[in-house]
Order: sequence, then C-alpha cells, then structure tokens
Amino acid sequence: MITELIKSNRSFRRFNAERKIERHTLEQLIDHARLSASTANLQPLAYYLSYTDEMNERIYPTLKWAGYLTDWDGPAPSERPTAYLLLCHDSEIAIKNEFLWCDVGIASQSILLAAREHGLGGCIIASVDKERIAEIIALPERYKPLVVIALGEPAERVELTEVEAGGSIKYYRDDDDTHIVPKRKLADIIIA
Ligand SMILES: Cc1cc2nc3c(=O)[nH]c(=O)nc-3n(C[C@H](O)[C@H](O)[C@H](O)COP(=O)(O)O)c2cc1C
Repeated sequence: MITELIKSNRSFRRFNAERKIERHTLEQLIDHARLSASTANLQPLAYYLSYTDEMNERIYPTLKWAGYLTDWDGPAPSERPTAYLLLCHDSEIAIKNEFLWCDVGIASQSILLAAREHGLGGCIIASVDKERIAEIIALPERYKPLVVIALGEPAERVELTEVEAGGSIKYYRDDDDTHIVPKRKLADIIIA
C-alpha cells in the first residue's frame, strides 16, 4: 500500500552498521530515480556511489545531521550509514535552478521509497560541505554536488505526530529515544 510505504519512509539517521549495502542494490535504487519525472525530461542528475567502509568514513565528516537536535552530534560509529549517494548536477545539461531542485526532490523520494523494499532507509542531507566532498571523491569538474542520501538499515524508531496550527514543527526525541516528527494537520494545509 502506498500509504503505508510513505508512512514508513521516514528520515532515518541511526543505522545498523553491520548491514552492508552492495553496489548492485544502490544501482537498483538509482534506476527508480532514472525512471521518474524530470523537468522537460532533461534528466540532469548523475550519481556517485559510496559503499565501502573506507569511502564512507571519509564522506561522513562532510555531512551535518539533524539541525534541531542541538545536543546530538550525529550517529555514533556503530550506527552510521553503510552507503551514500551523492546527487550531482551534470553541468553539461542546462536547467534552471528551481527546476533542478525539483528533479532532486523527485529523484530522492524515488530512491528512498525503493530503499524501503530492501529493508533499508535513509536521509536526504542538503547540509553537505560540497567543496570537501568533491575533493574527497575526486569528482570531475563537470559534476556539481547537490545533496547526499545517506542509506542503511534503520536502527531507530521514528514516529509521526500531528501539530496544532502555529505549533512547533521541530522534530525531537522522546524519553524512549523515539524520534518524533510533527506534521501539520490535513485541514491546516488545505486552502479551500
Ligand atoms: C531537501 C531536504 C534536505 C534535508 N537536509 C537535511 C540535512 O542536511 N540534515 C538532516 O539531518 N536532515 C535533512 N533532511 C531531512 C529532514 O529534516 C526531514 O525530512 C524532516 O525532519 C521530516 O522528517 P521525515 O522525513 O521523517 O518526514 C532534509 C530533507 C529534505 C527534503
């Protein structure tokens, strides 16, 4: 069911570091993005795949996690993602910025939904040190980093809650260490 799939597709930030992800699986995820909608069908995105311990360790410090959880430094080594996808703009394909970012959103959602079918989950990370990551992976100049999707087998509970109009949308962790994500109510986002 699409409803269940979307509900289960949360942003996960703590993972089982023992569950490795093979390159083939990442390619399957990217194939879902490849088949998705794209502005004027330009298909301006290209992907760098990281799935080895060595490269994952080098990429991790370029990412910023969970801005609202100010007393949390990000996942501990035993709960870090076991793969990363770096979504890049292939600058040889011209596209207006706002449309490029629309493509990024659609591709990211396709990848994350497909990941759930493999028992995986992830988090889109836009707070990336783009210069540093490009250097680390020796990214050819043609490709411009946009976002990273961190992936792994989720090892945290994430629940949705509804927020009253005007209430805080900041996610938090409750006493059980469950990550709670407030969503606006349906009635509050329907204009007429
Ligand atoms: C475009 C975009 C950029 C994001 N960047 C980050 C980020 O840099 N770091 C992070 O921890 N989460 C990031 N997130 C995840 C959001 O914080 C998350 O989607 C939000 O808290 C709602 O949780 P949910 O995805 O479980 O519904 C990003 C999400 C999107 C869509």
